[in-house]
Amino acid sequence: MVANWKMHKTVREALAYAEAFLPRAREIEGVELALAPPFTALEPLSRALLGSPVAWAAQNVHPEPAGAFTGEVSAPMLAELGCRFAIVGHSERRQIFGESSAFVARKVTALLGAGLRPILCVGEQLAEREAGRAREVVERQLEESLPEIPEGRAEELVVAYEPVWAIGTGRTATPSLAGEAHSWIRERLRARFGGAADRIRIQYGGSVKPENAAELLADPEIDGALVGGASLDPASFATIASAAAEAAPRGGG
Ligand code: PGA
Repeated sequence: MVANWKMHKTVREALAYAEAFLPRAREIEGVELALAPPFTALEPLSRALLGSPVAWAAQNVHPEPAGAFTGEVSAPMLAELGCRFAIVGHSERRQIFGESSAFVARKVTALLGAGLRPILCVGEQLAEREAGRAREVVERQLEESLPEIPEGRAEELVVAYEPVWAIGTGRTATPSLAGEAHSWIRERLRARFGGAADRIRIQYGGSVKPENAAELLADPEIDGALVGGASLDPASFATIASAAAEAAPRGGG
């Protein structure tokens, strides 16, 4: 369960959040939790979370390890901060900043090379869904955003299915619609990685909130969530994360 804060929270606000969230997080069992703050808050937040059950994640990364790339941050820089995950291919990066799937694929390679786990976002736009092209779009994004993955590393990937029409709109995918898209993704991952695909987490993202989290996470195809707006409040994100603790993991158990 990952909180994507996007461009929200100063360092002071991030630390206040950690203080409020940590006692709640300690009550949640069997759920992997991470907070993805803006870069400025990453290092101070990492100190606040050190030794706690909550990991920290970056919202972006540049594919090159270093160089003349004004405004960018590299995977080795994130690794040094103990970052466990980084979000790549978010629709806001694809749409607002014009990032292509080929560029996203290079980021995935860089992250794995630095020992971080990529959270790779894919998802169709409303017009694509209405034209009956959702599956084709999601499969193509997935295919083109995934680089060659070193042997034995595929299960470090996390894929987030985020239909663009559900992001920040209050319009959530129904569990059956999301579950269906997750099964397309799982099928593609199996074609690519064989049995390891069953160990790749597939998160749903798009207007997840305390009121709908349990219903979404109850779907056996939905392994977790990438939460934007509703993760900005620590009590709200804790409620959502608790819903994951209640949901049975895929494959029973
Ligand atoms: P939202 O954002 O929960 O505010 O819809 C999700 C995301 O963009 O990751």
